[in-house]
Amino acid sequence: MPKPTPQRASGAPPTDALIQALMEDAEAGALLVEPSGHVARSNPSAERLFGLGAAKLLGAAAADVVRTVVAGDDVVREAFRTAQGEREAVLQTANGGEVPVRVRTYRFGKPPWVLVTLHDLTQMRRMQQELRRHERLATLGQLSAGVAHEIRNPLAGIGTSAQVLLKRFEPRDERARFAQVILEEVARLDRIVTSLLQYARPRTPELRSSHLSECVDKVIALAADRIAQAQLRLETQVAPKLAPLYIDPDLVTQVMLNVTINAIQAMPTGGTLRFEVAKVRRKAPPRGPGRRADDHGARRAGGPGWIEYQQVRVIDTGVGIPRGVLAKMFDPFFTTKSTGTGLGLSISQTIMQEHGGSIAVDSREGRGTTVLLNFPLEKRNGERRQHDARTERPDAAHRR
Ligand SMILES: Nc1ncnc2c1ncn2[C@@H]1O[C@H](COP(=O)(O)OP(=O)(O)OP(=O)(O)O)[C@@H](O)[C@H]1O
Ligand SMILES: [Mg+2]
Repeated sequence: MPKPTPQRASGAPPTDALIQALMEDAEAGALLVEPSGHVARSNPSAERLFGLGAAKLLGAAAADVVRTVVAGDDVVREAFRTAQGEREAVLQTANGGEVPVRVRTYRFGKPPWVLVTLHDLTQMRRMQQELRRHERLATLGQLSAGVAHEIRNPLAGIGTSAQVLLKRFEPRDERARFAQVILEEVARLDRIVTSLLQYARPRTPELRSSHLSECVDKVIALAADRIAQAQLRLETQVAPKLAPLYIDPDLVTQVMLNVTINAIQAMPTGGTLRFEVAKVRRKAPPRGPGRRADDHGARRAGGPGWIEYQQVRVIDTGVGIPRGVLAKMFDPFFTTKSTGTGLGLSISQTIMQEHGGSIAVDSREGRGTTVLLNFPLEKRNGERRQHDARTERPDAAHRR
């Protein structure tokens, strides 16, 4: 191809109006390149992709615009050489950004014109990464369940034997202390194994008509010692006249307890622990393929365009959560604590999904954290769903 010259070729491609219409409408970026190698037309998607206005694109040497990160790679020259082409590339945009794209080229007419279309793959790459991450986590869960199962029996044997030994020694005997250490460590391992199994093989919720406020009361009772020890101020606010929900109160209590213990642990130097229970209305997301099937029932409960939930907020005034942690806190085994298993939130998330609900976190570093537990209002939304809820992402690692 000759080096492009600044003058633009006269004449128009044969299917001008058709191409114009298609380009205007296309989600992919499209550039029409005239025989001299200059851009004759661009569409809004291409302008967004390259970060250049139509005025800058028009008349520019296409090879200068469609640049990839690979030195010497000339997509446009290649396009003039072949009738049709398709490949993936990483575009270098005007502002120094890099965008993964699928490039398709079509040569037509005599002298040859070229149409270059560019599909932004950023979103798809992100989804692929997400999918791989979920697959990895699901495998990890299954694997650890297998290991946990195998560990359980020998662990029970060690525990029983240590118990027998402990009884044989005088309390003052140093060996009794060792037996005691074995017992304590066995108990710790047993807790981890139980959590692991619970994460990998959650039990089916047994739904019955219950009030969320009852679960809150139970959690406060269960955590009373810790709350007192940490010298926390306790506040609760329950909205009046909330209808009962179909939930498994034991499992929901467990979720709230996990979240509450996290909140308490986040306030080592005191603070306020607050529980709120209320009905919330949220604008329904726009209809689209990403819409969850169970939005439908809840949508009707709040009228068209609205989704209604009962929501429990567990609020702390603790250390807050740094951005990097927010993204990973629902991953199994992710913990920032020396004695944590990192399974508390993973289990909680699974339970919430089994209830057709969701868990979300909103946090400000140094100020505190709010965990939102959303329960759908209709009974059938609380029923266990068929697919493996664990492979879904949390509704939000933070409020989005
Ligand atoms: N309220 C909170 N404030 C600050 N950080 C939090 C809060 N809740 C969770 N986190 C962060 O999220 C991480 C994961 O929490 P998760 O409950 O899953 O595990 P864990 O508390 O570390 O261990 P485990 O729950 O098994 O004892 C925590 O280690 C902590 O860093
Ligand atoms: Mg925890």
